Amino acid sequence: MSSKESLANLLKEERRFAPPAELAASANVTADAYEQAAADRLGFWAEQARRLTWATEPTQTLDWSNPPFAKWFADGELNVAYNCVDRHVEAGNGDRVAIHFEGEPGDSRSITYAELKDEVSRAANALTELGVEKGDRVAVYLPMIPEAVIAMLACARIGAAHSVVFGGFSADAVASRIADADAKLVITSDGGYRRGKPSALKPAIDDAVSRSPQVTNVLVVRRTGQEVEWTEGRDVWWHEITERQSAEHTAQPFDAEHPLFILYTSGTTGKPKGILHTSGGYLTQASYTHHAVFDLKPETDVYWCTADIGWVTGHSYIVYGPLSNGATQVIYEGTPDTPHQGRFWEIVQKYGVTLLYTAPTAIRTFMKWGDDIPAKFDLTSLRVLGSVGEPINPEAWVWYREHIGGGRTPIVDTWWQTETGAMMISPLPGVTETKPGSAQRALPGIAATVVDDEANEVPDGSGGYLVLTEPWPSMLRTIWGDDQRYIDTYWSRFPGRYFAGDGAKKDDDGDIWLLGRVDDVMLVSGHNISTTEVESALVSHPKVAESAVVGAADATTGQAIVAFVILRGTAEDSADLAGALRDHVGKTLGPIAKPKRVLIVNELPKTRSGKIMRRLLRDVAENRELGDVTTLTDSTVMDLIQSKLPSAPSED
Ligand code: WT7
Repeated sequence: MSSKESLANLLKEERRFAPPAELAASANVTADAYEQAAADRLGFWAEQARRLTWATEPTQTLDWSNPPFAKWFADGELNVAYNCVDRHVEAGNGDRVAIHFEGEPGDSRSITYAELKDEVSRAANALTELGVEKGDRVAVYLPMIPEAVIAMLACARIGAAHSVVFGGFSADAVASRIADADAKLVITSDGGYRRGKPSALKPAIDDAVSRSPQVTNVLVVRRTGQEVEWTEGRDVWWHEITERQSAEHTAQPFDAEHPLFILYTSGTTGKPKGILHTSGGYLTQASYTHHAVFDLKPETDVYWCTADIGWVTGHSYIVYGPLSNGATQVIYEGTPDTPHQGRFWEIVQKYGVTLLYTAPTAIRTFMKWGDDIPAKFDLTSLRVLGSVGEPINPEAWVWYREHIGGGRTPIVDTWWQTETGAMMISPLPGVTETKPGSAQRALPGIAATVVDDEANEVPDGSGGYLVLTEPWPSMLRTIWGDDQRYIDTYWSRFPGRYFAGDGAKKDDDGDIWLLGRVDDVMLVSGHNISTTEVESALVSHPKVAESAVVGAADATTGQAIVAFVILRGTAEDSADLAGALRDHVGKTLGPIAKPKRVLIVNELPKTRSGKIMRRLLRDVAENRELGDVTTLTDSTVMDLIQSKLPSAPSED
């Protein structure tokens, strides 16, 4: 089976969705943006930078004199927090709600831009009182509460870089990140609400900070009211120190290349990489892409991104993109099934959410829970739906459009990375005729292509490695403290080009289909088969909600395909189901892609950001002792999966 045939098979239904006429007629960005950017890429970005309010307008756009170390808008000066907060108040929009906060227990709080300005100013004054200065690093370890956003903006406001560490990470993970960034102060809370109960955060910080001599203070937000241990002289209550600060704070401008944040990638192996992002270029692209890809109309839209603030999606599409655009958004603290599996849809209905941004893993979970759950809620306010984090298989894409989007909403499948800082490949909702499962095309001003092993661009209809061929404003500037690793990791595989680590294909129209991390590609009897394609084929069977596919060592074929499958809410396991699923894949993709074994499971091992850890499934499939499980959300999942595998893989 050639890759071209398999892609043609996946596309056989030729499903295409034109933009809704009404959206297209008033879209923020139209097709000429592509032409304009193609004619003058740097001029295009210089124009987008004017979306921001600069204290000193930049006259330079890109300085690429020392690749791969880029400088964007280097002679410009701005304050990122001013751009996200104050300027909206100055423009007369102080009464607009910036954040509708929905706590997991059902408490809620709406914060206007004027209130946000006061809160950020008090927090900035508090940080200054605690000795935090321009150029320092501050670690943030908080649940999804407004203070997380306020803390990040307060750091930005005084020129300190934040390093947000996801609240689910262990004390060890926090300690190594605090040490690597040499953070001076940590902001945490007593706890947050998760799955119906308070879940402590401070103990991990107490443990981590006991190993971090350079941390002078721990600032503690009171969220749950639970008991905390207290270190006098070091620990400070957030409410106590912020309450006595002035709500006035004058934001100083900083250089466009001043560090804004470090974010450690959730890599599954090796020492975590501190991805460094700076100010002007990052904010330009976060702001532009949020405006273009969600078609945000700040006066009328209600936007909701369900990601955690601990991931880059939370940085770029909860904090910096939406707030720089003056958006009204929802922030939800908890899990989607607390107290019931319709919680997300109840929130959409309550706030009249118009733009929703979530991940394929969540969408497939909703498919598993059943169509009847979203059907109980009024979701007619929704007008654009986004997806990010993994390839979205066509079946989940279509389900999302039908059952959440009422068959009306464009789906924007946005490809990007922690390293890219902002969206890179995505449809535009008022322009693109969308294809379920494809991220389609580089955004205006972005240059992406697919190359083969020898760095030659592949023709349409072929697959290879995704590369970015020109620098972009929100690109990472380096790996914190390790310039050589930055060069080696991203710029050495294909000299002069950024290698993203993802496999991809171009279809006959030149549209891009992401195929997952190249480390996950399987080699079966000499054929390269992508896990994503087999997973998509499995999920296109009516009984399947989610699947994960791995290549396990096989004496005959090199690797054999082993599929782990979760059934949909209503489907039942039966003696012949595994056989039926094998045949279904054979029919969809061709006999070579037929899994050798299909295992029906209840859960899949996922990282805390929702990515399937295929490495662990390979360990199971090859009957090996499990590797490192510390980044797993729930390590009991692996016991359950192993119990499905009573014997060593058979040689049938
Ligand atoms: C990796 C980056 C981007 C924010 C969240 C993840 C995968 C991301 C897509 C997409 C296919 C995707 C890639 C990428 N990925 N979006 N729309 N289609 N794959 O950030 O943790 O840095 O992960 O996520 O493999 O390289 P991240």
